[in-house]
Amino acid sequence: MFSSEKLNQLTLQITKLAREAGDFQLRELQHFERSNIEFKGRSNDLVSYVDKETEKLLIEGLSKLVPEAGFETEEGTIEQSTTGLRWVIDPLDGTTNFLHKIPLFSISIALVQDETLLIGVVHEPSRNECFYAWKDGGAYMNGERIEVSAIQTLSESLIATGFPYTLRGKAEQYFSLIRHFVETTQGVRRLGSAAIDLCYVACGRFESYFEFNLKPWDVAAGILIVREAGGSVSNYSGGSDRCQTAEEVCAANKDVHPFMIETLKKYW
Ligand code: IPD
Ligand code: CA
Ligand code: CA
Repeated sequence: MFSSEKLNQLTLQITKLAREAGDFQLRELQHFERSNIEFKGRSNDLVSYVDKETEKLLIEGLSKLVPEAGFETEEGTIEQSTTGLRWVIDPLDGTTNFLHKIPLFSISIALVQDETLLIGVVHEPSRNECFYAWKDGGAYMNGERIEVSAIQTLSESLIATGFPYTLRGKAEQYFSLIRHFVETTQGVRRLGSAAIDLCYVACGRFESYFEFNLKPWDVAAGILIVREAGGSVSNYSGGSDRCQTAEEVCAANKDVHPFMIETLKKYW
């Protein structure tokens, strides 16, 4: 196991690498053309050489930092490690935004030991905002400590969600839920990067974020960052299962979280 000091040091090394990857993405964004879009099965599940090149760059850098760790990444690098230690990575979260030249996307990197989140780094290149946390070390953005918001009611909350690539037969429940939140909160946002949604809860811009049918690389880093910023993350029933597997994720500050769960239980 790593000491807290070692986790802190590793976290800062990862943020450097994430910033390098972010610079690469910003350069590519300048001249990206839609003819470079590839499809991963469904016509709305997109990918490009930018996702793949970023993944390569990250794997190369991270392998040097912790050679004994395996990999679980969106673009297909699966390397098991006998120790249960692994990097869980989305090289480009917000791919659809990027491919349409919308400058709202991120790089998400987590170091995980079995089911325990050790480090989370989410870098948003366009805003030059790098969010990070390590276990029991607090959460930060560009060197400053961050905290979830102090809002206590849903009526004063701004909440975020995402539309999964497939609604898996849950469209009715999901859109009734959205309608309810549109009518009872200060607003509902859909940014297009789950990792950024979670970090915006962590720094108090959103009171809550919920989404289902995600993948571990979308949320692993962000979940740790929210928890270290004083927030709660659970599944839609308030429990911890299906949250790290990313089947159901509800993140919020500690006061708003119970109201979110109460509502989710009613509709789900
Ligand atoms: C997606 C984003 C989006 C969420 C989708 C994810 P990708 O990841 O996080 O916000 O709504 O469900 O799959 O494809 O951009 O890496
Ligand atoms: Ca993603
Ligand atoms: Ca991605």
